Amino acid sequence: MIFFIFGVTGDLSRTKLIPALFRLYKENLLPKKFHIVGFGRREWSQEDFLDYLNESQDHKGSQFKAFISHFTYAQGNFDSLEDYKKAGKILKKIDESFGFCANRLFYLAVPPQFYSDIFKNLHASKISDACGGEDGWSRILVEKPFGNDLKTARSLNLLLGKLFKEDQIFRIDHYLAKETVQNILAFRIANNIFDPVWNKNFIEKVELQVFESKVVGSRGAFYDGIGALRDIGQNHLLQMLSLIAMKRPEHFTVHEIRSAREKVMTNLNPFSKQSVVRHSIKGQYKGYLKEKGVQKGSKTETYFKIKTFVNTPEWNGVPFYIESGKGFKNSEVKITVHFKGDKNEKGNVLHFFIQPKEAIELVLKGKKGGEKFEFEEHRLGFTFPKDNRRDAYEKILLDCIAGDHTLFASTKEVEAAWKFIMPILLHWKETKLHVYPQNTDSTNWNLTNNEL
Ligand code: BG6
Repeated sequence: MIFFIFGVTGDLSRTKLIPALFRLYKENLLPKKFHIVGFGRREWSQEDFLDYLNESQDHKGSQFKAFISHFTYAQGNFDSLEDYKKAGKILKKIDESFGFCANRLFYLAVPPQFYSDIFKNLHASKISDACGGEDGWSRILVEKPFGNDLKTARSLNLLLGKLFKEDQIFRIDHYLAKETVQNILAFRIANNIFDPVWNKNFIEKVELQVFESKVVGSRGAFYDGIGALRDIGQNHLLQMLSLIAMKRPEHFTVHEIRSAREKVMTNLNPFSKQSVVRHSIKGQYKGYLKEKGVQKGSKTETYFKIKTFVNTPEWNGVPFYIESGKGFKNSEVKITVHFKGDKNEKGNVLHFFIQPKEAIELVLKGKKGGEKFEFEEHRLGFTFPKDNRRDAYEKILLDCIAGDHTLFASTKEVEAAWKFIMPILLHWKETKLHVYPQNTDSTNWNLTNNEL
C-alpha cells in the first residue's frame, strides 16, 4: 500500500500524522508492504527529507530508522500537473519493487485553498486511478476545514463528485475518531435506561465546550483566515452535538449512524441577524494581534459561544450551547447534559469528559445526613479504560484502509454545518469582539451576553 501525503512538512504531518503512522508501524498494523511518499514544495533531495524526518520527530532508535526507510520525497507544486506525473513515476517504481500494483491512499494535510488544484491534478495525472485488480482501491483523505464557507464547500463537493466516487472520499473530523467521543454513542446505545429521558421532556439544556490552553503559535497566518468558529465550531463541536442529539440508531451501521447525524445537522435552527446578536458572542485573547502571521488589527475570533436549538420533535426548545476558546488557563473538552429539576431543585447532570479527563459522571442527589430532610450531591461515574487505546489519527488511518466511513463526515453533514454557521459569520462583522486576558480559567469564565 502507498500513503501519499500532501503537506508532508506541515504542522499536522509532523505532530499527528507521522507519529500515528509510526505507532501503527510498531504494532505491525500497517499493510505488510507499504511505502510513504511525501509530496512537498520544498526543493529537497531525499537526504534532506530524511534529515527533516529525523529532526522533526523525537524518536531515534533503530525502529524509527527502519520506519523512515519506507519514505520517499516527491518534490512538486500542488498546481503543476507535470509534478504529479513525475510523482507517478515514483509510484510506478514502488509498485515494481512490491511486485504488484498497490492500493493508494492520498492524504491532504494542506490548507483548503489547495484542495481543488490537488483533486484536479490527481485525476488528470491518473495517479489516483486504482490499479490493484478487482479489490484494488484508491482513496482520498481530506482534512478539515472542508472549504472556507458554504459556497467553497459546495463547489469542492461538486468537483469531487465529478472526479471521484463518493466511497473514495474520507472527510476527516478527528474528534469523531477520539475514543471518548465514540464513547458518547456507545454509552447511548448500550444503556437503554437513558433512552426514555433523552429528549426535551427531561433535558433542560446541553453545553458543549472545547477549551484549549494552546494559542495559535506557528499557525497564525492560517488561523487568522479561519477563526475559532470555523476551526472548532463548524466541525468538532457540531459533530459532538449531533452524537448527543441524534436518534439512537437501531443498528450500528455506517448508513444509520451517518444519516442520524445528518438529520441533526440539517435541523439546526437557522440563525437570523437578530438571533446572531442575541445568541452569540465572540472574543480574542490579548496578545493575539502580536502572533506571527496575524494581520494588523485582525478581528478574527479565538473564542466564541453560541446558543442554538435542534428543530426535531425530540429536541424542540432545548438550548444547546457550543463554546470554544484558545489561550485559556486550562485545556478541557466536555459535554454537560442538564436534566430538568422541579421548582426548588436543580435536576441531575450528566457529564461526558472528553479530554484530558476521560470519564462519564452522573450527578445524583441523596439525603444529607442529619435531622433535616435536605439533599446533597454525589457522583456516580467511571473513567474510560486506558488499555487498548487508539489515538484519533491512528483510527482515521485504520478506518480509511478498511474502507469504513462511519467516523467520517458526509457531504450532507459538511454542507449542513456550513449552512448553519454562515449567517453567524456574516452578521458577526457587526458585533463586538471582546478582548480577554490569556490564561483565563474557563471554569470562572463569564464573558456573556445577557441573552445567552
Ligand atoms: C484542530 C484545530 O482541528 O483541533 C486546532 O484546527 C485545535 O486549532 C485542534 O487545536 C484540537 O485538537 P485536539 O485533538 O488537540 O483536541
